[in-house]
Amino acid sequence: MRKKILFLKKYLKNPQTVGSVIPSSEFLGKAIYKSVKELDQATVIEIGAGTGALTQYISSLNPVLVEIDKEFCVLLKQNYPHLNVVNSCALEQLKKIDERVGLVVSIPLINNPFKLSFIPLLNDLYGKGLLKWCVIFTYGLTDPLGEVNFESKKRKRFVLQNIPPAHVWVYS
Ligand SMILES: C[S@@+](CC[C@H](N)C(=O)[O-])C[C@H]1O[C@@H](n2cnc3c(N)ncnc32)[C@H](O)[C@@H]1O
Repeated sequence: MRKKILFLKKYLKNPQTVGSVIPSSEFLGKAIYKSVKELDQATVIEIGAGTGALTQYISSLNPVLVEIDKEFCVLLKQNYPHLNVVNSCALEQLKKIDERVGLVVSIPLINNPFKLSFIPLLNDLYGKGLLKWCVIFTYGLTDPLGEVNFESKKRKRFVLQNIPPAHVWVYS
């Protein structure tokens, strides 16, 4: 409950960055885990980890957690002491990548200026062979990463038991 209240508080303060009123559901967490497991092995980076609602399901993959909000990072460090938690904007971390990675993306992209820098960065990493795959969820109907030149893209799952219901897209 504490996590939900903190999340709502953050949403009310910064709706564009947080993107939803409550953390993702266990059903979405499981759908993301399943999608990641179907992909090639790579170092997993979860960007926009929030209170760890998805982390809970992918923690066995030892993801690096990147989160811009300080208070969320304190919570993540408490709950996942074995994981590397980085309190930073995801763009800064993506610029430092020098090994093959897979990204689990939770950052809302609709009407978010973040997307303007995010897309070219993904194209650059993918072109260099450093970005192997990307798993992202969206509440909208359109392809959230349509501007990235991935060879393969698929709307893989639809999770009704989430508020709001979410589509899981997989790119590689
Ligand atoms: C929709 S919430 C998802 C939280 C959690 N992964 C979940 O599914 O419940 C988006 C998260 O992305 C974080 N975020 C937004 N912009 C970010 C950025 N530029 N870099 C890192 N994290 C960011 C927000 O603080 C928030 O925790």
